[in-house]
Amino acid sequence: MSQSRFAAIILAAGNGTRMKSAIPKVMHPVAGQPMIAHLQQALEPLRPAATVVVIGPEMDEVARTVAPAETVIQDPPLGTGDAVRTALRTLEGRLAPRGGIDEVLVLYGDTPLLRGETLVRLLAEQQRAPAAILLAGMRPADPGPYGRLIPAPEGAIQRIVEGADATPEEYAIGLVWGGLMLIRASHVLELVEALDRNNAKSEFYLTAIVGLATHKGLQCRALELPAEEMIGINTRAELAEAEALMQWRLRRAAMDSGVTLVAPETVYLSADTRFGHDVIVEPNVSFGPGVTVGEGARICSFSYFEGASIGAGARVGPFARLRPGAVLEDEVHVGNFVEVKAARLGAGAKANHLSYIGDAEVGARTNIGAGTITCNYDGFNKHRTTIGEAVFIGSNTALVAPVTIGDGAYIAAGSVVTREVPADALTIARGQQVDKEGRAAEIRERLRGKNG
Ligand code: UD1
Ligand code: MG
Repeated sequence: MSQSRFAAIILAAGNGTRMKSAIPKVMHPVAGQPMIAHLQQALEPLRPAATVVVIGPEMDEVARTVAPAETVIQDPPLGTGDAVRTALRTLEGRLAPRGGIDEVLVLYGDTPLLRGETLVRLLAEQQRAPAAILLAGMRPADPGPYGRLIPAPEGAIQRIVEGADATPEEYAIGLVWGGLMLIRASHVLELVEALDRNNAKSEFYLTAIVGLATHKGLQCRALELPAEEMIGINTRAELAEAEALMQWRLRRAAMDSGVTLVAPETVYLSADTRFGHDVIVEPNVSFGPGVTVGEGARICSFSYFEGASIGAGARVGPFARLRPGAVLEDEVHVGNFVEVKAARLGAGAKANHLSYIGDAEVGARTNIGAGTITCNYDGFNKHRTTIGEAVFIGSNTALVAPVTIGDGAYIAAGSVVTREVPADALTIARGQQVDKEGRAAEIRERLRGKNG
């Protein structure tokens, strides 16, 4: 499809007052990643000619998150219209008729559920029947404070009125604006420059450009798009609503790709969770960011993962915790109350009960007995534990790092291992057992005599 060249402007400078938060609104995560990252991912395949993100002062974290997209600082944030004006300063020379950009796509940073294919629909509609401004309309169950799209003859839109400023008749309109619009580049500057602050909030409202355009005889239209993709997040309750919608989207995608979720409503996924075919996920499992699960793995209930890679055919949980840098190769078993961090377990290795494996390398087919701890921290620094292949670590062993265990070694239960163990050695590092024949009976006799 031949497509006009467009620049994207993402607004993210607002104070997010209604979130009552110390962090910028667009940095609040949905499915494990900041809202604004979702928008960027939807936009990316459309290859905008330029992307400018408008941020507020002291929002370096947002700038880092959206890089390499260009950022401009709106200081102070005087409203959505002022935000677009700030972005246009950096785009000016690139806009038609002087430059090659024909359209400006404005996106609000607080609408993380928008899909790329929906953006494509909006751009295609503008190609089919160009308007000076093409608005994304939606009909949410509760139109609440959203901007009402006031109709004009012949299906056009005359202006937008904020829910808060609407008359009862306007308020009753169900078609509202979803925080997404396409503006023809040849008109955008004059329209945005003409905005004023004559409204309840004394802000420059971007929405007022629709009325201005109509007044100039320019045509504004709306394309109705799915409401569940355009929910704007202004409060924590809306954040939770968006999270719930996104979770269902991700669960459905996982199931469609061949994953069994036994009780999908209890499984929490991140936008970047990746599964092979025939993975089975039992109820009550959380996947934080950065997790991949190989084909045929079984994830048992009440497990919690982040930054971890689980190999094909592995069996993990119930009650397992994999922290960043945990790599389980194929057919590894990690059982209940086992925590793995920054550690690789080679193919077929097993740690089935009650262990902490951190900053470690565990060779293939090694068995880690119940209660084994890698003592990786001395109060100041972290140290590594290296365990070879086919090692047997007896129950309740403390491996005091840095330490290396050679291939095929056998560590007796209850050992505290503080130095290197050679390959194939049997190591016993614990107090000796002493048996004093008959002494138990003697003690019993004595104590009984004393007591009566
Ligand atoms: C806005 C619209 C409303 C629409 C709704 C869709 C206006 C005046 N109202 O309301 O019609 O139905 O979105 O979700 O536009 N921002 C800046 N600089 C500012 C102010 C805001 O960059 O000075 C950014 C915010 O960070 C946010 C976006 O613009 O990402 C929208 O602002 P927000 O305050 O959420 O507007 P709404 O009240 O939701
Ligand atoms: Mg909003």
